[in-house]
Amino acid sequence: MIKHRTGRAQFTSKFGLIAAAAGSAIGLGNIWKFPYITGVYGGAAFLFVYLAFILAIGLPIMLSELIIGRKSRRNAFGAFKKLAPETPWRFIGSFGVAAAFLILSFYGVVAGWSIKYIVFSINNSFHSSSPEAISSAFEKFITNPVGPLFYQILFMLMTGAIVIIGVQKGIERYSKVLMPILLIIIIILDIRAVTLPGAGDGLRFLFHPDFSKLSFEGVLSALGHAFFSLSLGMGTLITYGSYVNKHNNLVNTAIQVTFADTLIAILAGIAIFPAVFAFNIEPGQGVGLIFVTLPNVFMQMPGGYLFSVLFFILLTIAALTSGISILEVVVAYFTEELKIKRRTSTILATSLIALLGIICSLSMGIFSEYEIFGLNFFDQLDFISANLLLPIGGMFIALFIGWSFGKFKVMREVAHGGRLRGWFLRIFMLLVKFVAPIAIFIVFLQGLNILDFIFALFSGNH
Ligand code: PHE
Repeated sequence: MIKHRTGRAQFTSKFGLIAAAAGSAIGLGNIWKFPYITGVYGGAAFLFVYLAFILAIGLPIMLSELIIGRKSRRNAFGAFKKLAPETPWRFIGSFGVAAAFLILSFYGVVAGWSIKYIVFSINNSFHSSSPEAISSAFEKFITNPVGPLFYQILFMLMTGAIVIIGVQKGIERYSKVLMPILLIIIIILDIRAVTLPGAGDGLRFLFHPDFSKLSFEGVLSALGHAFFSLSLGMGTLITYGSYVNKHNNLVNTAIQVTFADTLIAILAGIAIFPAVFAFNIEPGQGVGLIFVTLPNVFMQMPGGYLFSVLFFILLTIAALTSGISILEVVVAYFTEELKIKRRTSTILATSLIALLGIICSLSMGIFSEYEIFGLNFFDQLDFISANLLLPIGGMFIALFIGWSFGKFKVMREVAHGGRLRGWFLRIFMLLVKFVAPIAIFIVFLQGLNILDFIFALFSGNH
């Protein structure tokens, strides 16, 4: 990252943006959340719907965010103010801040668990434990009112500190080296997992779809997760796009980041599900899935001690590079819109988010009876941010590019670093103008049971 003549920082190399955007995209979403929700919603059918959403909705919206960022050279709010002055489009930014706030509060809790698992790994805590013992150790840890808070706050402090020191330099340098190492470890885990006795059932669960098992809620979660995993819908990639120079080929960047993110999620699934079936673990058990599964795998492989320490360190770093990109959205809002100094903004945002995170963490234990619609506070935040706010933000971003920004500006902006073939542009415009917004809208109506509600109203049996 270098300072540009205009005073705005820029990525130093072509790889810089890819590394930073991939660093944001690849995180707990791929390795913790993807396997756990795939388990909850029944496996392969969920995976295929998720992949369809990634291609038809995620990829075009990623390109849209990068275009908005580079064209405006502003943060997520300033961007809309600059490109469409005096219009309500800038409210897209408000969804972004709200989403960032909620996401980071529960993200920090899970990242804290990952730090705890570095400690467990170093102490070799699971040495010759049964799968049941590993599972109850996890339960015991997350329901404890003190331990998880310590690690969650530690994670938030690290995230805040990096944002104060200066984000991009760090991200660019570390993501380049560490993400490939993470990839290699996951591949080694995959090899061990698929050679476990009984692994076939796990692979079938992950790749052999039974669409009759898929609920509308599952489809809504697949949509929400496409946004969550690619870091879309709240302006993260608008901000990163604003640091790219004119020669970057945005189309290639969007394709590469989407591909890398999806690859890591699928490889994580291949590491988890064969092991889940081999060790007789319940695939739909929820948030603890990777934490109760992977220690069993590490114990069954040569060098398992070292791999488990390394894995949880890298998982924590992957969570950090994502956490930073989420915190940036809130900090940018505080500094540029509310005119608070950057340092104060960061301290304020980090503290408020950490506080909300504390309630989230406690909702796993002492506050677990407080449920709304059958979900505890942690799941509520996850649902509202990933399944509602991000897709709504994404829908407006697509509509903005399709209907306000328009085809000619897209063509001009993308042409800087590459050539946009005619058919590609036509498909892209079709996706952002119609397909993505309409699909998001329909999934919403169905997933939230709004259609059923309306039918019930009209048929008079409510
Ligand atoms: N994409 C990140 C992950 O998969 C999480 C994230 C969501 C980051 C939204 C930024 C914006 O872990």
